Order: sequence, then C-alpha cells, then structure tokens
Amino acid sequence: MPAAQIEMREVGLSYFTPKQETEALRDVSLSVRAGEFISIVGPSGCGKSTLLSLISGMLKPTKGKVLIDGQEVAGTSPKVGYMLQHDHLFEWRDVHSNLLVGAEIRRMDRKKAERKASELMERYGLGGFARHSPSQLSGGMRQRVALIRTLVAEPDILLLDEPFSALDFQTRLSLADEVHRIIREQGKTAVLVTHDIPEAISMADRVMVMSKRPSTISSVYEIRLEDEGGAAGKDGRSGGGSAAMTPMRKREVGRFQTYFNDIWKELEAHVVSAG
Ligand SMILES: Nc1ncnc2c1ncn2[C@@H]1O[C@H](COP(=O)(O)OP(=O)(O)OP(=O)(O)O)[C@@H](O)[C@H]1O
Ligand SMILES: [Mg+2]
Repeated sequence: MPAAQIEMREVGLSYFTPKQETEALRDVSLSVRAGEFISIVGPSGCGKSTLLSLISGMLKPTKGKVLIDGQEVAGTSPKVGYMLQHDHLFEWRDVHSNLLVGAEIRRMDRKKAERKASELMERYGLGGFARHSPSQLSGGMRQRVALIRTLVAEPDILLLDEPFSALDFQTRLSLADEVHRIIREQGKTAVLVTHDIPEAISMADRVMVMSKRPSTISSVYEIRLEDEGGAAGKDGRSGGGSAAMTPMRKREVGRFQTYFNDIWKELEAHVVSAG
C-alpha cells in the first residue's frame, strides 16, 4: 500500500481567546494517498476550514500530529496550495500577472513561472484573456484563474475551501467538472470542503463526514460509482473507474442517490443532536 501523502494522527485543535477556549477539533485521524481526491462535509462551524489550515501549516495542532509525505508539518510549505471561496484576485493586475502572485510569494524562478502560467492558460481556456482585468471575467472564469494561479506554484496538494459556493448553480456544475478534470490531469492530491453533498460525492474518491463541535470524522464513504452498468454514460464511453468519470456523469448513476441519502441522514443527525 502506498504511503500516505497527508496524515493526521489524533489531532486536536483549540482556539484560545482571553475570554474562552473553543475546542474545534478532537481526535481527528485521517490518511490521504497521493493523487486521491477527498471531500469533507460537516455541520456549519464544525471545524472544516480549521482542518485545512492545519494541513496547510497555517495552524499548529494543540494535540497530535499532522504529516505531509511522512514529515511533520512545521509552517506553510510550497507543497500545499490553497483555493478559497472568494478568489482574491487583484483588480489592478491583469489575468497573467495575477497568475504569478503565488509564484512570486514562493520566489519561484520568474521565467519558469511565466512559462507555466502561459501553458496552463492555453490548456484551460484562458488563452485569450491574459491582458484582461479580473473584473472583465465571469465568476466561473475568475475561479478558474484562482485555481490556475495555485497550480503555477506547482503544489502537490490542493486544499479547496468551498471554492464554488459563491457561484450560481449552472456555473458551479460546469466548473466542478472542469476543476475535477484539471486536478486529475495534473495528478494532484485534493481535499475539498463543501456544504453541497452532491458536489462532495461527485468530485471525490472518498467523502469524510464530520460531526458537530468538538468535531471528529464520524464516517468515511468510499465512492464507487463506476460499478453499475449505467456508469458508461450517455456518450457510450466506459471504463477508467470512478476517477475517470466526470462529476456530471456520476450524478446520473443510480447509487449516487444512496450515497446522498446516507450522508444527508448522518449530517442531519449531527445537526439535530447539536440543537
Ligand atoms: N481564529 C479563531 N479564533 C477563535 N475561534 C475560532 C477561530 N476560527 C474559528 N473559530 C471557531 O472554531 C470553530 C470551527 O471554525 P471553522 O471555521 O473551522 O468551521 P467550518 O466548519 O469551516 O465552518 P463553516 O461551515 O461556517 O465554514 C467555530 O466554532 C469557530 O467559531
Ligand atoms: Mg469554513
């Protein structure tokens, strides 16, 4: 079995303010293989963003350990890229220049970063937009720029914190397909946090459900949607396993609804027991 790329061992995280202690995470253990796509769902405020901050090294666990490639995380690392709900593009820079921001922070070789930015722009449909300003782009395109900006810095791991939640339904469906394809093609390991259960199921190899605070991982669903006859999809293509199917096609597989029901019930039980 391949070694884990991301590992959390009995991790706890408490926030301390002068007035109170908030125990966000308690005893979280997980292991993510290189190239795997994980989704995380859980009640609002349970600690999903906190978990990503721990993997990124922006937060240090109060208890336990976080490891990347077997090394304990100590601060942020170029191995990890972060994509957020809001794209944080700079309006005074054009698209091409925005794509270089992460590389500048990482002090990557400028020429190499420019080459990588141009290659990714061409490949992922932004070729004609290099000199546009972010305000001239649609919300979906802006998020694509944000993803490509993260990729220019060549991380092995992508952390995605509700990257589609500010978009309309139609855009988020098609962008999910695209982001899924880009991440698979680039062979990245991904951890996606989302409130949207169908999105979580359709994008990931495994869905992890978190409980209410102090939160832990209450269960893990291995997503297997390629097994059914219907998985070949309307275009007649088949094979390649679940990872090779687009999120849109996975939504059409019968078992999709079963996963949805199971996860929804589990989340509802957490919310009810919280209230
Ligand atoms: N910097 C901080 N200081 C104190 N408490 C914090 C801080 N950041 C988060 N918290 C608390 O920790 C808990 C977990 O927060 P977190 O943002 O990780 O949850 P979340 O699952 O991402 O929530 P949401 O679904 O709303 O995005 C919450 O109760 C939150 O109020
Ligand atoms: Mg959050």
